[in-house]
Amino acid sequence: MPVTLRPTIEPEPVNPALLRRDFPIFEDANRDQPLRYLDNAATTHKPRAVIDALTRSYAECYGPIHRGLYPLAEQATSNYESARRTLQHFIGAASPDQLVFTRSTTEAINMVANGWLLPRLQAGDIVWVSRMEHHSNYLPWQRACQQQGAELRIIELAEDGQLDLDGANGLFSERSKLIAISQVSNVLGVENPVAALCATARQHGIPVLVDAAQSVSHIELDVADMGCDFLAFSAHKMFGPTGIGLLYAKAERLAEMAPFQVGGGMVDIVGIGTAPSQWTGIPSRFEAGSPDMPAAVGFAAAAEYLIGLGIGGVRKHIAALTRLAAERLLTIDGVALLPHAELPSSGIVSFTHRDLHPHDIAQIAGESGVAIRAGHHCAQPLLNHLGLAATARASFSVYNDEADIAALVAAIRRAERVFRR
Ligand code: ALA
Repeated sequence: MPVTLRPTIEPEPVNPALLRRDFPIFEDANRDQPLRYLDNAATTHKPRAVIDALTRSYAECYGPIHRGLYPLAEQATSNYESARRTLQHFIGAASPDQLVFTRSTTEAINMVANGWLLPRLQAGDIVWVSRMEHHSNYLPWQRACQQQGAELRIIELAEDGQLDLDGANGLFSERSKLIAISQVSNVLGVENPVAALCATARQHGIPVLVDAAQSVSHIELDVADMGCDFLAFSAHKMFGPTGIGLLYAKAERLAEMAPFQVGGGMVDIVGIGTAPSQWTGIPSRFEAGSPDMPAAVGFAAAAEYLIGLGIGGVRKHIAALTRLAAERLLTIDGVALLPHAELPSSGIVSFTHRDLHPHDIAQIAGESGVAIRAGHHCAQPLLNHLGLAATARASFSVYNDEADIAALVAAIRRAERVFRR
C-alpha cells in the first residue's frame, strides 16, 4: 500500500512583543528604563498563568497532600497528582509514577547519586561526566566516586566545543557504571547528541542521566525518543516557580533506587529500634515531607503555557535570536565568543572582551537595564580548561527581541567608554 506522507508544518516563531504582555514583570511602570532581561539561563520570568495557578492553589484549594481525609485535602491531593500527569505528558513518560517531584535539578541529581549510584558503585568503577557540566551534574558524582574509590572520568571537548566522544577511551567499557551529561551546556550553549549517546550506552548496558535544565524551555523533551534512564530539570528555568524540580527515571531504575531522604509520607511500616522499615510505593517513597502542591500546580501551568506556545515556535525564535546576538557581538572589536562548531543557537551566548572584565560588562549592562550574568557560571572545570576565570553570558527566552540585543551591544560600548577613561 502506498504510504501517504503528511505535509510537515513549519512552526512560526513566537512573537515576543505579544508574549511580553503575559509577563507582569515587564509592566513595572516605576522603572526608568525598559527591563532587558538576558539572564534566562539562570532563571526565567513567570507568566500570569503560572502566578495565577500558584495564587489559586493557596487561595482556593490549599491543604495537606496524601494525608487528609476531608474534601479540601482530597482536592489538593488530586491537583498535585494531576500536575504530575501534565508533566508526564510534557516529557512523554509512560507513567506518572516515573516522575518524582524534587526541590531542583540539583536535588534530582543528588537523589540519583545517593539513592541509585552509591549503593552499587565499587572501587575501580568509572562514572563519566563531560567537561562542560554544571557543578550540580559534577559534584554529586565526584563525591560518590571519592567515597567508593571509583574513578570520575571526563569526556573532553573537541576544538569546536562539541563533545569528543571518540576520544573518551573506555566510555562504553564494562567498568562504566553511569554517564551523566547535560543536553545543553549552560556556558557554551552547545547541544549534545544525547539520544545517540543513550542509544549506544544502552547497547552496552550503561545507564545515562540527562541534565535538561538548559534545554527544557525550548527543546521538545520526549524521554521515550531520548532513551535516557534518568532526566532532571527545574521549573524555574521554564517559566515555573522556583523551588521545585523533577526527576524522571525508567521504572526499573526507580525500583532499584533507595530513598535519598526518609521521613513522613514515604513509609508504610516503621520498624522499631533498628528493625527495617518498609517504604511506601513509588514515587511517594522519594518525596519525604509535605509535598509542595502549589509549586507542582504552578510547574504544570508552566508546562501548559509552553505547550500552548508551541515548542517548535519557541525553539525557532530562540535559535534566531541567539544567532543574531552572536553576529552582533562579533561586530565589536575585542569580543570573542566561546568555541562553537557553528554559531550558537541554543539560547546562550558566552563571550569575553579583550579590554573588559566580564563583571565590569555585567555591571555597566545592569545600570543600563540589561541583565546578563558574569562569572564562572558554576562550571569551573570548563572555565579552567578554557583558561578563563569568567565570561559574560547573555541568554534568551520567548520575551526577548532584537531591541534587547541592541541594548546589550550599546551597554558594551558604554562599558568600553567608561573603562577606557
Ligand atoms: N545554572 C544557572 C546558570 O547557569 C544558575 O546561571
